[in-house]
Amino acid sequence: MSQYPSAIPVADGITWVGAFDPTLDDFHGFTLWEGVKGTTYGSYLVQGEKTALVDTVNIDFVDEFLARVSEVVALEDISYLIVNHVEPDHFGGLMAVLEKLPNAEVCCTAAAARTIVDFHGANVPARIVADGDTVDLGGRTLEFLPVPMVHWPDSMFTYVPESKTLLSNDAFGQHIGIPGTIFASEVSWERLLLSADLYYANILMALSNPIKTAIQKVVAKGWSIETIGPSHGLIYRGEEVGRIIAHYQSIIDGSIKDGSVTLVYSTAWHSTELLAHEITKRLRDRGLVVHEFNLNEEPFSKATLALLKSSALIVGAPTMHNGLFYRTAAFLQYISGLRPKLKLAAAFGSFGWSGGATKQARAMLEAMGAPMVEKDLQIKFRPTETDAETIDTWVDGFVAALAGGPVAE
Ligand code: FEO
Repeated sequence: MSQYPSAIPVADGITWVGAFDPTLDDFHGFTLWEGVKGTTYGSYLVQGEKTALVDTVNIDFVDEFLARVSEVVALEDISYLIVNHVEPDHFGGLMAVLEKLPNAEVCCTAAAARTIVDFHGANVPARIVADGDTVDLGGRTLEFLPVPMVHWPDSMFTYVPESKTLLSNDAFGQHIGIPGTIFASEVSWERLLLSADLYYANILMALSNPIKTAIQKVVAKGWSIETIGPSHGLIYRGEEVGRIIAHYQSIIDGSIKDGSVTLVYSTAWHSTELLAHEITKRLRDRGLVVHEFNLNEEPFSKATLALLKSSALIVGAPTMHNGLFYRTAAFLQYISGLRPKLKLAAAFGSFGWSGGATKQARAMLEAMGAPMVEKDLQIKFRPTETDAETIDTWVDGFVAALAGGPVAE
């Protein structure tokens, strides 16, 4: 058995049997750094006269997971395996788990059944469930709500009315993996929101509309929810349920935006870095809050987190080989699918002879729908005192555009 804690009761008839992964520092390219690394794979036993297992774990943790489940119930006594979401962090070990559950009927959406075939190459017999379908466990009920694109087409919520518990899979998740810690009340709310926002920004940011629809459906159903058990991170209970839903709504409706500016840059010989500092200083002198990130050193995920609250993005890069320095290009590619909501964007950079970096950065920003300031800021080699007026004018134009005023010529 793992060195980590045993199964943990969560609500009446519901027990957490997931796994802790405290050293995880890369979640399919989403970097987690010291202080925020780690996750959990949340899995829950729901017990009435019969028993259901809702979600499983990453394949690397299947053995300890099955041992944890066995503490609560004999594996052959599990009647249902509920697949809320087929992604490998939850069901990479689906076949290995099913091998040990001889009497479990798989319940999932039609999209999940197709994905099981596509991903696992196996035609697993499954009961296809739709909105409002239920499974009667005898004294406890599972009610299903498909929530496509929260996070994949197959995604689903499972609600247990007798326990007033919503098992939400990826929604409301956080990559927090502190062995033995499974409740939100065990950390500060600020610590929890840091990881919840990091998770939302880097995984869910483009999916705000499906998430909004899912929340509206939950509200319309009138479900009474006293516990939300996500499949990553900590479990919300009591007033924390309303707080995390309200926080999600602030992201969805944009009220989380604080008017700050996120400025990212990469640099080859520190010229673009000097220019970045000149721009940041001027923006701060004009009263703006600026979050500055050197993409040579800092994780893309950290800058993407800042974009959750920032209204504007300024992107810097030197020209190399007539084009955009690769690290800034990679960052723009990273966020392009996440589609951050921006009021304004801009590009700047140092060049030696040909230029070209800002033109490519502008094209990538425009392709993701970002409104651009009229002009890019390009400085030959290193910024000097003779460039001060040019930088001043450009920053004034940016500030005016962000404020909605006329853009300076
Ligand atoms: Fe946690 Fe979309 O998987």
